[in-house]
Amino acid sequence: MKKSLLRMSAVALSAAMLFTACKKDDAPPANAGSELYKRLGSNAGIKKVVDDFIGIVVADNVINGFFANTAKSQERVDDLKMNLVNQIGQAVGGPEKYTGLSMKAAHVGLGIKDVHFNALVNDLVAALKKNNVSDADVNTIGGVLLPMRADIVEP
Ligand code: HEM
Repeated sequence: MKKSLLRMSAVALSAAMLFTACKKDDAPPANAGSELYKRLGSNAGIKKVVDDFIGIVVADNVINGFFANTAKSQERVDDLKMNLVNQIGQAVGGPEKYTGLSMKAAHVGLGIKDVHFNALVNDLVAALKKNNVSDADVNTIGGVLLPMRADIVEP
């Protein structure tokens, strides 16, 4: 886990350099085609990862407090899952279209710090691993998500 996260940071650095010309909110595709999307099991595979991810987040005491209000409404949980599936699907070259808020607008005022962001990324890595996603693909996905830190974490 430590090794793969270290590698993720390295990918994130190069991804950050590649993406400096892009608007951060746009979640640029992680690859030109949809091979990664297929390897993840297309929409059904991504839904499974997101379901597992939510389960891991709910059990994670570092960050589950942020989702206390979300957890009170099944509709809100379903909306969040749908947005995450579409965001990840789009980012890995699938046909999904993310229609939710910008990362800045979605998280402004929540008081998210680096420790929370890192915990959430670790939880996503755990969900990907649980679904047998390879280290290389985990790193590619990390390379798309980590540059969003600047829009999500508040000083
Ligand atoms: C790369 C990291 C992250 C991504 C890709 C991400 C993605 C999203 C998305 C797509 C939404 C829904 C936006 C909408 O409603 O239109 C959302 C909402 C939210 N996020 Fe994040 N997020 C990230 C990090 C975090 C972190 C670190 C926290 C706190 C620990 C957090 C807490 C929340 C909360 C509380 C909501 C509102 C949920 C609701 O509607 O009830 N997010 N996020």
